[in-house]
Amino acid sequence: MGDVAEDETSFYSNAEGYWRDVSPTVDGMLGGYGCISNIDINGSKLFLHKFLGDGDGGTGTGTGTGTGTGCALDCGAGIGRISKRLLLPLFRTVDLVDVTQEFLDKAKTYLEEDSKRVGHYFCSGLQDFVPERGRYDVIWIQWVIGHLTDAHLVEFLRRCQEALRPNGLILIKDNMSHEGVVPDEVDSSVCRELPIVRDLVSRAGLRIVHEEQQLDFPKEIFQVHTLALR
Ligand SMILES: C[S@@+](CC[C@H](N)C(=O)[O-])C[C@H]1O[C@@H](n2cnc3c(N)ncnc32)[C@H](O)[C@@H]1O
Repeated sequence: MGDVAEDETSFYSNAEGYWRDVSPTVDGMLGGYGCISNIDINGSKLFLHKFLGDGDGGTGTGTGTGTGTGCALDCGAGIGRISKRLLLPLFRTVDLVDVTQEFLDKAKTYLEEDSKRVGHYFCSGLQDFVPERGRYDVIWIQWVIGHLTDAHLVEFLRRCQEALRPNGLILIKDNMSHEGVVPDEVDSSVCRELPIVRDLVSRAGLRIVHEEQQLDFPKEIFQVHTLALR
């Protein structure tokens, strides 16, 4: 990531400053594209359902191949947009981790009754966060990998792998550039091309078990791909 890695401290502190000023709303989470939230969540549901359970009520114990539905981790969760519509309806417990405390505070009311099934609200940068070993069936990482340096992303993915339960799955859903690494000075992030993301995933010792492009998003935004890893 060149320049970014050279000035890692400001890369992270500028991003934190950017997000502190963003309103704790769905529109804020999606950079003014709140209108795509439904399409996004519906696409994610279809994707995730391919892996959950195996006709045994989602415990993942039937044939031993399905992903369980006990506990999920929402990474870079923001106000819990994904937890509310995707993860809490499917998993018994959901933990949220985000670097912006104000978003986690908002999540407590935004998630309404279901907030009772939130296990933990962790306020931390993913570059520092160590998920509990063996706790999670699914670790969902959406629209946040561009806030990590290459080395931190690889290390974080390694820690995520150790945090999975048997048959657990890590999902990355994010913008992919057409070519190379595209920096965003405004929110202090980068957008990587898909081959670079695939390479970082393999450096973390993970295997891509399924990959899809999210369809029906506006043409002017980056293409978005979902990768299932274990
Ligand atoms: C584009 S929003 C996406 C929020 C959520 N994933 C969603 O799709 O609704 C990016 C989120 O990442 C968080 N974030 C930025 N840098 C982070 C970091 N280094 N570690 C953890 N969270 C971070 C921001 O606070 C913000 O909530």
